[in-house]
Amino acid sequence: MTTLVRNGTVVTASDRYQADIYIDKGVVTLIGQGLNLPADTVIDASGKLVMPGGIDVHTHLDMPFGGTNSADDFQTGTVAAAHGGTTTLVDFAIQNFGEGLYPAYEGWMKRAEGKAVVDYAFHMIVRELTDQVSGEMDRMVKHEGVTSFKLFMAYPGVFMVDDATIFRALLKTRDNGGLICMHAENGGVIDTLVKEALRKGQKAPKYHALTRPTRAEGEATGRAIALAEMAGVPIYIVHLSCSDALEKVKQARDMGLPAYAETCPQYLFLSYDDYERPGFEGAKYVMSPPLREKWNQEALWKGLAKNDLQVVSTDHCPFCMNEPPQKQLGKDDFSKIPNGAPGIETRLMLVWDGGVRAGKIDMHRFVEIVSTNPAKMFGLWPKKGTIAVGSDGDMVLFDPDKETTLTAKTLHMRVDYNPYEGRVVRGGPAMVLSRGEVIVDHGEFKGRPGRGQYVKRQPGRPLVG
Ligand code: URP
Ligand code: ZN
Ligand code: ZN
Repeated sequence: MTTLVRNGTVVTASDRYQADIYIDKGVVTLIGQGLNLPADTVIDASGKLVMPGGIDVHTHLDMPFGGTNSADDFQTGTVAAAHGGTTTLVDFAIQNFGEGLYPAYEGWMKRAEGKAVVDYAFHMIVRELTDQVSGEMDRMVKHEGVTSFKLFMAYPGVFMVDDATIFRALLKTRDNGGLICMHAENGGVIDTLVKEALRKGQKAPKYHALTRPTRAEGEATGRAIALAEMAGVPIYIVHLSCSDALEKVKQARDMGLPAYAETCPQYLFLSYDDYERPGFEGAKYVMSPPLREKWNQEALWKGLAKNDLQVVSTDHCPFCMNEPPQKQLGKDDFSKIPNGAPGIETRLMLVWDGGVRAGKIDMHRFVEIVSTNPAKMFGLWPKKGTIAVGSDGDMVLFDPDKETTLTAKTLHMRVDYNPYEGRVVRGGPAMVLSRGEVIVDHGEFKGRPGRGQYVKRQPGRPLVG
């Protein structure tokens, strides 16, 4: 199968030029001007920016959490991703207590097979680091292409591991080239504050945020970086939400340490005020870390512009309000509201509108933080994350003038609300190609379940600077 994308403006993290792109059997084989080659599919990209497909390195599809499963599975979630211009995602497989890493890896493979419409890879959430698991970390990196591991400093009894475990896992990555991704919140402090709030009868959704102070994230972020420094390895902080935590990353980077971090659109566009919505509405925004006071948003945008933050991912982990009643599990107790919110479909539109259109970042930095950097950090580059000869034909034909009203009614995520309901954004995908195949054409889905392929990742390349 061959595809020719003609007359577009190619935009990568470093370049911008008019060119035609020829894709043969899923891979870019020629880039040039005035290419006059026969192709099975010829696409006119006049007026469009041709960018590498989005890469979302933080998703939770079909994830068991808080007594239910996240509402999108690998089919509905990847269809939504495709509509939003994301052509590769890295989801989190979860080690069960008392088991090794292989049952989790195989379980997540089964969840995705026959369903995924875009390419996918896995990180591994490690909950127990026995000697056997330690050996399996090596095998995951070497043989299975699972080259990153998430550890939690929060959720005692569920995911949280102690500092000794964190340190041993970090040392493991020194030997095998893997990368530790850290959920950095001080779980002991938070758990105590939650119990205290409940004792006082403070049960509404807003107490989720009020019991997870920014200092708890800042402290854990600093501690995680210090542990990585002592182990002599890089570290990647996931879903960084606030200035307190960003300052720790900045300090470390100023010292020359290989500390990296992602933030997510919810922390750039939403705030604590959303918890003050009437009734149980605040439950829509219950996620961890929680939304912060609005002033943090400006600090995060600066962090992205100045490269103290390198990636925008989504932490897509949707739970329905009513159909089915998932968030309702915490109707009378905020600590029982499943944590997470939808975002896999809206990332590119939001970051373009609030970042590029608003003049906070340029279009090359946009490509870098939504595609190229995630690909480099997580061992997908240069197969993914750029447009170059030899790279996969994963592309977004981006229309900078396309206007979209974000609403649960028309978005494709399988969840009965949208955190940005009614927000109008300008700039969005007109067409989306995965390995040269058109999977979304002006809002119409053209892919098929099961076409997405598992990508074995290489150890990531810590970014320079
Ligand atoms: O609230 C969140 N973030 N849910 C997903 C699990 C996690 O910690 O990433
Ligand atoms: Zn997390
Ligand atoms: Zn997450």
